Amino acid sequence: MGTRRVLVTGCSSGIGLAVAARLAKDELRRFKVNNAGVGMIGPLECQSIDAMKNLFDTNFFGLARLVKELLPDMKQRQSGHIVVMSSVMGIQGLLFNDVYSASKFAVEGFCESLAVQAMKFSIKTTLVEPGPVVTEFERKVYEDAEKMDLSGTDEETAKIFREVYLPYSKKIFASLGQTPEEVAEQTVKVITAKEPPLRHQTNRLYMPMTALKHADPTGRLPLDAFYKMIFKHDSVFNATLGVLRMLQRSAWKK
Ligand SMILES: NC(=O)c1ccc[n+]([C@@H]2O[C@H](COP(=O)([O-])OP(=O)(O)OC[C@H]3O[C@@H](n4cnc5c(N)ncnc54)[C@H](OP(=O)(O)O)[C@@H]3O)[C@@H](O)[C@H]2O)c1
Repeated sequence: MGTRRVLVTGCSSGIGLAVAARLAKDELRRFKVNNAGVGMIGPLECQSIDAMKNLFDTNFFGLARLVKELLPDMKQRQSGHIVVMSSVMGIQGLLFNDVYSASKFAVEGFCESLAVQAMKFSIKTTLVEPGPVVTEFERKVYEDAEKMDLSGTDEETAKIFREVYLPYSKKIFASLGQTPEEVAEQTVKVITAKEPPLRHQTNRLYMPMTALKHADPTGRLPLDAFYKMIFKHDSVFNATLGVLRMLQRSAWKK
């Protein structure tokens, strides 16, 4: 199987642990998976610049440091595969996820740019883009949200965060959340393919969300759709979630 090296960052829990276990099971030792990452939600006015820098240090600079370290050897060997745990939020921004989403956009831009050079040296690049996954990540962001001091923002924003965003977000995780094992299974399947894609979204039910963006280069379509779904049509949001939940269940049964 070529070289005897495997590297998965952030594998003490969640997706990284499941990916490391899945790779070990099949004795797949040629992958470098940059998975370590942290989340951050809430009104921007309540988040310190230091906290934002820390998040970027893990989510983006962790990747940059790793690739900088490994790339010369991969180039010299003319082989290797850089696998990065991104997110659907690396493609489409989401309410109250400004900084987290920005860090994943950075990851996407970095890999998309690097992939062309990597290709010249026969190095593959794959961005895995999960939607919600039920892991420690979810528990930690909600725990931080409960403790968050919202006095830095106005009352209306604090109310939207507590009474609209948090209940919506929890419903989405409960309805559509994947297990880390499902994400690991898809990750291994995709990266061991003969022609691995640059991007792979693990949750088919999330694809319409990102498709809106590609459908309208002006950005109006996704903006209007998210605005209406969150602020105008509570019943549409709940009904859509209900339908998606049914689709998810029938997909699992197959
Ligand atoms: N869960 C989701 O809904 C979801 C959705 C899309 C994408 N993702 C992405 O998937 C990846 C894994 O997340 P997860 O859901 O599996 O969360 P998780 O269970 O919290 O695992 C995150 C892992 O990253 C490690 N980590 C965090 N900060 C680190 C640092 N500064 N240096 C080294 N390791 C660090 C953690 O180790 P310690 O616990 O020891 O700090 C842990 O092993 C992240 O990149 C995340 O952005 C998650």
